[in-house]
Amino acid sequence: MKIEFQQLSRQFEDGRIVLDSINFSDEIRTLAIIGPSGGGKSTLLRILGGLLLPTSGEVFVNGSPIPQNEEQLQRYRKEIGFVFQQGGLFRHMTALENIQIPLVQVHHYSERSAKERALELLERFGLKEDSHKRPFQLSGGQQQRVAIARAIAARPRFLLLDEPTSALDPEYTTEVLDIVNELKNEGMELIIVTHEMGFARHACEKAAFLCQGRLMEYGDSHTLFTHPQTPQLEQFLGRLLEWNI
Ligand SMILES: Nc1ncnc2c1ncn2[C@@H]1O[C@H](COP(=O)(O)OP(=O)(O)O)[C@@H](O)[C@H]1O
Ligand SMILES: [Mg+2]
Repeated sequence: MKIEFQQLSRQFEDGRIVLDSINFSDEIRTLAIIGPSGGGKSTLLRILGGLLLPTSGEVFVNGSPIPQNEEQLQRYRKEIGFVFQQGGLFRHMTALENIQIPLVQVHHYSERSAKERALELLERFGLKEDSHKRPFQLSGGQQQRVAIARAIAARPRFLLLDEPTSALDPEYTTEVLDIVNELKNEGMELIIVTHEMGFARHACEKAAFLCQGRLMEYGDSHTLFTHPQTPQLEQFLGRLLEWNI
């Protein structure tokens, strides 16, 4: 998909500038957004997902501006898959219902075809035995697999993931990233905010480094990791590597 930001800025009520005049234009298949906490990554992703409006500037997806009015925004959101850090599932619903019910209520699937689609995805993601469990009966990794299944169930145009593994134990992180990688290999276009640098570097084609509301670096992910151009990225990567084996 083609993503374009023109002088994109977001300021919150307290006056803080969270995104500061971001200009960007490229054709993207898989993009990792990295950077220190508070740098504006989630804000940028929420704007792309139509969950938050910029205070100034414009965003174009495949040449069309993200709509401004609520009715059109709702339609836009329906075409995008979103996975959050944690707690994104409906607590009172089973894994199956978490996938099935939005398909019926939001996407107007029949009960039967929604159930079929949900079961197909649960089986595919190794959750067939867990389809009747509620989120509290599932591990964090299983919950995130259900969340991903729900996000792709209606075959979205692209998938946005905001730190989908940052609340997980390491062994669950791998099983979730494996699924994201599998989707990528099938041609799903995606943008992921992540602190998993191995995944950002090896599984994503492009990477963007966001720091203090500014897009400091962008490019081919391998190059970005091996040849940082700014002291900020160099310092950020250095910190991450400090305790590596
Ligand atoms: N609704 C809001 N109102 C005010 N400030 C906000 C709001 N949402 C986020 N922020 C601030 O914006 C900054 C960037 O946040 P965020 O986009 O979540 O960064 P990141 O995802 O990179 O950690 C943070 O300092 C945060 O406190
Ligand atoms: Mg965030």
